[in-house]
Amino acid sequence: MNAAIRAVVRSAVFYNKKAFGVYRGFDGLIAGDFEELNSKSVKNILSAGGTFLKSARSAAFMTKEGRQKAFDQLQKHNIDAIVLIGGNGSFTGGHLFFEEFGVPIIGVPGTIDNDLFGTDHTIGYDTASNTVTHCVDKIRDTAQSHNRLFIVEVMGRDSGFIALNAALATGAIEVILPEENKTYPELFTELERGAANKKTSNIIIAAEGNKLGNALEISAKVKEQFPSLDVKVTILGHLQRGGSPSNFDRVLASKLGVAAVEGLLNGKTDVMVGIENHKLTYTFLQQAILNKARIDYELLRISKILAI
Ligand code: F6P
Repeated sequence: MNAAIRAVVRSAVFYNKKAFGVYRGFDGLIAGDFEELNSKSVKNILSAGGTFLKSARSAAFMTKEGRQKAFDQLQKHNIDAIVLIGGNGSFTGGHLFFEEFGVPIIGVPGTIDNDLFGTDHTIGYDTASNTVTHCVDKIRDTAQSHNRLFIVEVMGRDSGFIALNAALATGAIEVILPEENKTYPELFTELERGAANKKTSNIIIAAEGNKLGNALEISAKVKEQFPSLDVKVTILGHLQRGGSPSNFDRVLASKLGVAAVEGLLNGKTDVMVGIENHKLTYTFLQQAILNKARIDYELLRISKILAI
């Protein structure tokens, strides 16, 4: 997200506009927690994870009163447009704000979950996928050395993008996704097939929102079914959301940040900027909110073929 903030600030300055950073998301908007930023304010942040502006969920912005206060703050500071970096929740608030007060607003997709409609990739997804891949590679060393089965739980409360991508990249025997209705008998069959093929180390990747249960619950069921298996659990948690962004994410954030400012200057509003099939697109926030990006089922098919 820092790379996106840098791109927004520098392109605004390039086009002779003033840029303000809003601290703590919508809460900061309500409180007037703004700081004017120039090109120097955003130097050397490309490689830093997270966001130096900080971020917060805002209960106050869900009320009309809170949004009115935010609008008053914008007027007071003479701010006439907003670039909003975030996911579904942020865009829902942004769209409502636009409808009520008409402030031009452009969303930039930033979430590791990659579940936003209107862009092939969201900022952070590539970095998180790479982090998971590196972690699972390390876990594989123990799995391999000790003939163990690891269940690795990854983020994705509602979507399996990270899980599926990482499963393919790490050669997992099985991936369990929120989008699927996988059953325990199906999972057991896969594991039996692996055993029949004399697999000695096995990795199952489970997205946290999957329907079978969390990694510990899945582990308990697997142990019950295969008492001789040495089953271990690793929950990767928030380490997936930090760290220096990948080259891909930095470039994506730079493109989207510039496109957000140029979009505003060209009169676009109430939209999310994205890149689809290598082309810049602007999707109405309403569409981005109502629809959901779908995982690539072809990847799932391929991972099944390769997991034999
Ligand atoms: O941004 C979405 C997400 O990464 C989910 O995959 C995950 O469940 C959630 O964030 C975790 O959020 P929190 O930090 O609030 O626990």
